[in-house]
Amino acid sequence: MLGQSLPRLVTPPPGARSRALVDVLARTECPAFTARRARRAEASGAPQDPIVWAEARGSNVVDADGNVYVDLTSGFGVAAIGHAHPRVREAIAAQSERLVHGLGDLHPSDVKIALLERLAQLAPWEGARVVLSISGSDAVETALKSAALATKKPGVLAFEGGYHGLGHGPLAACGYAPAFRAPFAAQLNPHVRFAAWDEHDAGAALRAVDAAWSDDVGAVLVEPLQGRGGCRPASPGFLAGLAERCRERGALLIADEILTGLGRTGATFWSVEAGTLPDLICVGKALGGGMPISACLGRAEVMAAWGASDGEAIHTGTFFGQPLSCAAALASLDVLREEGLAARAAEVGGRFAARLHAATGRPVTGTGLLLGVRFDAPVLGLVARLLGQGWLTLPAGADARTLQLVPPLNIDEPLLEAFTAALAAEVRA
Ligand SMILES: Cc1ncc(COP(=O)(O)O)c(C=O)c1O
Repeated sequence: MLGQSLPRLVTPPPGARSRALVDVLARTECPAFTARRARRAEASGAPQDPIVWAEARGSNVVDADGNVYVDLTSGFGVAAIGHAHPRVREAIAAQSERLVHGLGDLHPSDVKIALLERLAQLAPWEGARVVLSISGSDAVETALKSAALATKKPGVLAFEGGYHGLGHGPLAACGYAPAFRAPFAAQLNPHVRFAAWDEHDAGAALRAVDAAWSDDVGAVLVEPLQGRGGCRPASPGFLAGLAERCRERGALLIADEILTGLGRTGATFWSVEAGTLPDLICVGKALGGGMPISACLGRAEVMAAWGASDGEAIHTGTFFGQPLSCAAALASLDVLREEGLAARAAEVGGRFAARLHAATGRPVTGTGLLLGVRFDAPVLGLVARLLGQGWLTLPAGADARTLQLVPPLNIDEPLLEAFTAALAAEVRA
């Protein structure tokens, strides 16, 4: 049954139908994407042509040729409750009978108001205020603007290895790879400083923060566990030290929980679980159960800096709070809570990490079901070979030496065991 099925390949991927579609892609899509595949193929020594997704249910993805894969990426962390969860599909269908599009912040929809109320309750502060948006990048943009308004300081402290999306605001703070910023450098916030990220030594990490700090810093933007940067957690005590510095120096702490939040790491908010109370929290990815929606949650005092509107909303978007996405988000939050998926992520993730380490002998980092297996060389070839056996995984880290494993939080454990065996065999080979 599709949903929790082992890989089933009917043709070596990518099959003929996928290849034909990718030819169309190569003619029509922005050439940067096509060129990237060619470069990855060169770097890995293995073909990197993509499969074309045609269907997905639960932990399974089916490609255009009918091959069935197990998705250990959750589609970039989105399918936390699995792909196309029935509750999400029902919510979208029911909402589509009533209201597909609203009038945003001018004449808001009832379902948008319900989601705002739910997220305000989920936030770790009394009286939290929420801004809905579409992408993770949007949510970070909202947080950066909120901090600039509240502190009247333009500076941002961000971290090497950090990834926050690619709109101009978050891009300026993209420490993942300088190459992302370089072509647009002249257009980006010049008041961004980067501190080194030390996942092992909180003292060294805090000294790096002190060295990078300047008086104009109004926002410190941090992923409590760097995902794309290579599954690199904050060292214990680091986030608390960071929050203390923010308080002392009049800056606000923004936790980018777009990947880590809503259960993935075993808690609703990983920064809070790790003993820190940020001033602003960004969520996205898992929030919409597959629909595009994100949110910036903020302390009431911080969000008060936006002031009362003088008639024009100075931060909005046509599709912010889109009714179908709001309905999907409410269903997705219900499923996460009712199925206890944060606790399950912690439990299953703990066992998965231990098995991965035992089977491969490689270091395993991360927490809950946000895990990385570290290698000494880039894993692009490994990712391609695993795809050839029906396992969808991603490389992480600017050096691509981490195999990132981000399965749905409700994935059947035998699938993880079968994957561990497949990975161990690849490592031995
Ligand atoms: C931690 C984090 N922040 C922000 C983003 C950007 O989200 P989006 O791609 O939806 O703009 C991502 C995406 O991978 C992310 O992992």
